[in-house]
Amino acid sequence: VDNEKEQRFMIEWQELTAFAKKVSEQDHSGHGFDHIQRVVATAKQLAAQTPEADTAVVLAAATMHDTYDDKLVPDVPVAKAATQQAMVDAGMRADQVQMVLTIIDHMSFKANLQHHQSLPVEGQLVQDADRLDAIGAIGIGRAFMYGGAHGGRMYDPDLPPRADLTAAQYRTTEGTVINHFYEKLLKLKDQLNTDAAKKMAMHRQQVMEDFLTEFKAEWHGRR
Ligand code: ADP
Ligand code: NI
Repeated sequence: VDNEKEQRFMIEWQELTAFAKKVSEQDHSGHGFDHIQRVVATAKQLAAQTPEADTAVVLAAATMHDTYDDKLVPDVPVAKAATQQAMVDAGMRADQVQMVLTIIDHMSFKANLQHHQSLPVEGQLVQDADRLDAIGAIGIGRAFMYGGAHGGRMYDPDLPPRADLTAAQYRTTEGTVINHFYEKLLKLKDQLNTDAAKKMAMHRQQVMEDFLTEFKAEWHGRR
């Protein structure tokens, strides 16, 4: 019976993955399919250390977490309906589908600040996996990809850190990639929900701190 369940779950997962892949192919904002694949892999790892979590909900929410993000899709309600339908078609239970949608709705940094929602444990794991993908070596890579795509500069030692720039302001004002570490990336480790994620974040934090030290040393000709 377990084997049968496992088999059915593989089929669901492949269908959901194909759906998320199609959406992320339209991406120009650092939420490409490679990001989705890493978040799914990390969420799976975190779920394995969290027996009370419904793994199907964790993996579906990780796979679909950007499929109706306003940065990726032109019409959010239409994209949300398509996301819901994809999960129904993949054979997920109605209560699981509802839970995944609730998690995605309340997962984003902004939504979290507005509602102070407490996420179910499945959502906490996916949010942690998403945040872990913004730090460490991959986080450094994604930040520079973002800076390049938005015409930003790497660094300006004379500018004070700015905490509040949007993508549009980023092009025209003083946002630099290095500043983004101080405004956001170095703080993410303290915003993680689970101990398993906090443990993973420790090494990634060190990688970023070492990188910033080296970057500034080379910038100022000290290496
Ligand atoms: P999410 O939707 O996961 O909350 P964002 O869209 O804010 O993430 O960011 C996607 C990626 O782009 C992340 O790796 C993030 O660090 C990076 N990024 C976002 N804003 C900036 C910025 N101003 N400068 C450099 N990188 C950024
Ligand atoms: Ni994401």
